Amino acid sequence: MAYDLIVIGAGPAGYVCAIRAAQLGMKVALVDKRKNGGGTCVNIGCIPSKALLYASEMYEEAAHGLGPLGIVVAAPKLDLTTMMKHKDDTVDANVKGLAFLFKKNKIDFHVGAARIAAPGKVDVAGEDGRTTQIETKAIVIATGSDVAQLPGVEIDEKRIVSSTGALSLETPPAKLLVVGAGVIGLELGSVWARLGAEVIVVEFLDRILPGMDGEVAKQFQRLLEKQGFKFHLGHKVARIDKSGARLKTTIEPSKGGEASVLESDVALIAIGRRPYTNGLGLENVGVKTERGQVVIDEHFRTNIEGIYAIGDVVRGPMLAHKGEDEGVAVAEILAGQHGHVNYDVIPSVVYTSPEIASVGKTEEELKSLGIAYNVGKFPFSANGRARSMRKTDGFVKILADATTDRVLGAHIMGYGAGEMIHEAAVLMEFGGSAEDLARTCHAHPTLSEAVKEAALGVAKSSIHI
Ligand code: FAD
Ligand code: NAI
Repeated sequence: MAYDLIVIGAGPAGYVCAIRAAQLGMKVALVDKRKNGGGTCVNIGCIPSKALLYASEMYEEAAHGLGPLGIVVAAPKLDLTTMMKHKDDTVDANVKGLAFLFKKNKIDFHVGAARIAAPGKVDVAGEDGRTTQIETKAIVIATGSDVAQLPGVEIDEKRIVSSTGALSLETPPAKLLVVGAGVIGLELGSVWARLGAEVIVVEFLDRILPGMDGEVAKQFQRLLEKQGFKFHLGHKVARIDKSGARLKTTIEPSKGGEASVLESDVALIAIGRRPYTNGLGLENVGVKTERGQVVIDEHFRTNIEGIYAIGDVVRGPMLAHKGEDEGVAVAEILAGQHGHVNYDVIPSVVYTSPEIASVGKTEEELKSLGIAYNVGKFPFSANGRARSMRKTDGFVKILADATTDRVLGAHIMGYGAGEMIHEAAVLMEFGGSAEDLARTCHAHPTLSEAVKEAALGVAKSSIHI
């Protein structure tokens, strides 16, 4: 059987690459160990976590958000089984949608572990123990990432869990210890905090959400503390003792100092993810890796002719949409077109409440690059729509080049931030200025008017503050 393209890994990077390549006329095989398409994102990542974040936010809203609007309801009761069914049904609908798309685009989906035998040759070990070799002109590696382990701590997915176990707990833990104040820790910590857990976060650095704008992270930490989160910043976990009925976690200051012990019912290890290439046979064919990542050039080519790589397994942010855009770009390159990803404009969203969204440079990055910039800021507390919805926490911050006024970064903390960020992304894609954004008529009353007002603020001409 000969293909134009074999894509290894059916996550967002791989399956999008396969669909785009098929659209462009290639004969495509997509291989995954999972029998379902969608990879980490659809099966144990973006999609199930957002289903639980939405459901738990509604639970919280029913408990505390409706009374002040004059809606009197009895205290809500948690039916975790149904909430988990909502999560599973959501995953299932996405998986089925992908199966339909593979069929529609005539993509051959092979279930099994792929190993590159040689350039142009891929061995697929099926569940029945049989290995089939398939041949191709080009191979795209899209094998994604896996949970980073904490040395000396064994994840059992029951009491000491990764994000996968944290998406399927059978009851809300009375006390949840989260190791790592990154995206997973704060999103899944929020789910269980809303469903009744006391959440304690241990973070190695002296701030939460490294990489996000520092001012946003600081204000967000205060909001999370108001929601009941407790933080031990500048601390690391030395060990977790699971011999007793409760977990006993020894933490110590990152810079050295006295240790202390925290008790909890469940511990969530969320200290990052690592590129995944186990069993892929990269060493056979001589594909170069660095710190686990497959090394590629600006056209997604590895050092071996005919082998490309995209998604979490290569450099750049580990985000589904970054992988998807790389998937489209590499398919277009293979078809002789000019596929390209603009890494300066990749939005990222933390789906907590409020949401945090950002695109482009943070203030810290602009300072370290020595780029002079102006800041425009606008709080949601001064936005009429936000007041009418009682969603006044947070603000919009626009960073624009001091000389050209070109927007270099946008940071939003607030209700709906994950949707609003895209007007800044589109503007930045077109090289637009803060004035362009400020002079664009925005419908009233909308939360997005806060984006316009922040853009006006760059030239100190906000109207409503
Ligand atoms: P993956 O999705 O990891 O897919 C790789 C696939 O390759 C897997 O299905 C695996 O089975 C398969 N594979 C690996 N090796 C082989 C082999 N040898 N043979 C055959 N198949 C193989 N990102 C966002 O942008 N937004 C979010 O809201 C978000 N939420 C997340 C929540 C959680 C809890 C987690 C864990 C991640 C989240 N992410 C989110 C990150 C996102 O899931 C990843 O960035 C994305 O899935 C990466 O896509 P990928 O295609 O590169 O790899
Ligand atoms: P992360 O990189 O976001 O955060 C990990 C945190 O753990 C960091 O703050 C780090 O300083 C800390 N840490 C590292 N070692 C530690 C230690 N020994 N003790 C205490 N703290 C330690 O990684 P996370 O949250 O695991 O997420 C993995 C990836 O998944 C991220 O890169 C993210 O891009 C992606 N993701 C994206 C989401 C989104 O877009 N909404 C949601 C969830 C995950």
